[in-house]
Amino acid sequence: MSDSLFRRKSIVPEQHGGQGLARTLGWPHLIALGVGAIVGTGILTLIGVGAAKAGPAVILSFAVAGLICVFAALAYAEMATMIPASGSAYTYSYVVIGELIAWVVGWSLILEYSLVVSAVAVGWSGYVAPLLHASVGMPMALMQGPELGGIVNLPAIAIIAVVAGMLLFGTRESATVNAVLVIVKIVALAVFVAVALPAFDAANLEPFNPFGFAKHVGPDGVERGVMAAAAIIFFAFYGFDAIATAAEEAKNPDRDLKIGIIGSMVACVAIYVIVAVAAVGAIAYSRFANSPEPLALILRELGQPTAAWYLGVSAAVALPTVILAFFYGQSRIFFTMARDGLLPASLAKLSSRGSPVRITLFTAIVVAILAGFIPLDELAALANAGTLAAFTAVAICMLIMRRRAPDAPRTFRAPLPWVVGIGAVLGCAYLFFNLPAQTQFWFLIWNIVGLGVYFLYARRHAVVA
Ligand code: ALA
Repeated sequence: MSDSLFRRKSIVPEQHGGQGLARTLGWPHLIALGVGAIVGTGILTLIGVGAAKAGPAVILSFAVAGLICVFAALAYAEMATMIPASGSAYTYSYVVIGELIAWVVGWSLILEYSLVVSAVAVGWSGYVAPLLHASVGMPMALMQGPELGGIVNLPAIAIIAVVAGMLLFGTRESATVNAVLVIVKIVALAVFVAVALPAFDAANLEPFNPFGFAKHVGPDGVERGVMAAAAIIFFAFYGFDAIATAAEEAKNPDRDLKIGIIGSMVACVAIYVIVAVAAVGAIAYSRFANSPEPLALILRELGQPTAAWYLGVSAAVALPTVILAFFYGQSRIFFTMARDGLLPASLAKLSSRGSPVRITLFTAIVVAILAGFIPLDELAALANAGTLAAFTAVAICMLIMRRRAPDAPRTFRAPLPWVVGIGAVLGCAYLFFNLPAQTQFWFLIWNIVGLGVYFLYARRHAVVA
């Protein structure tokens, strides 16, 4: 069996049960934690990309992507409480399915976390660039990638350098900072809705669904449709694994994780749908489609420059924590895979401050280059591909464990597991097929490279071998 592509890792006993950390978090904390990690570039910027692909029906794209994510989140919560060890979807797959699938999932997670860092940095820059341009006269050509007519996106590179520096000094998200920034983000979105909703004009919603439901390629070669938009908008919903990883610190995990995960997802679906309704109702969608700062643009077009400025400043202040959370997550996945022998341990070596210096620096350089030159929608789409692969694996793990060990202790049990599990698998697969063909191609290339690394290096060095 030790030679098998499906050899499995056993759960490290001391990691199971989670008696180590103080149980201090109630469900309101968990909802704040979830909303803090989830709300970011997805709602602030990708809403414009979504509107370009679906027109006013981008509202439906938010609802569909959100529903699929709720299913995935429930499966995630069940596995996270059953296997509360670091590595999330990668570790669940290693314990439940076997090494080869775990490798593909881990390799996909590295892609996801890295590209989210790049994407959120580009989204951050989209809101910061006009502020820098107005205040210090920085040329726009140095604050946008080539796709938008610029040369290089320097603010995106700079924020990645800052966050990487923080990680090297051992910074983690703190619950207090997170709580403050959640409020900053929610207030900013509330201001947007308060200004945009009174300007609602039903004429802006006509025609409601100009590009149809399923993904299809238009005469200009661009893929559109409600589901093509949903496949991108999906980006806006993930980040809730922050809650799952806090399972050990929850006061009453069974009840509070359920409320925390479902609560933050439902809160985000509701917030996003309201923001989307306010946005597409306020001005014609074509005017903010593909803007690097669509919500600020809408406020300016409504004659509210102060509100637009406020929104930009809020994004500038609050988005770096999303970058920090995913950057940290990336090094944690890498670290876990290196500990299992699948990646070189030398890369994951910790400094005296407890941060993996080499992998942090290497990641920072790669994601900074990507953020400097690649457009947001392409980064987000490829990040989504990795995430969809990981969510699918988590849902399959949950279903397998329900069969293999129906009575094993689970701090949290997903309701209607077969509906939730199969719904998550089919939903994620459908979103994946609605991603741009180019994204699917790059995801395939990434995994071919990954399988090369697996067969040439990882398989031979795996600790379980
Ligand atoms: N959900 C996170 C965001 O939208 C990744 O920024």
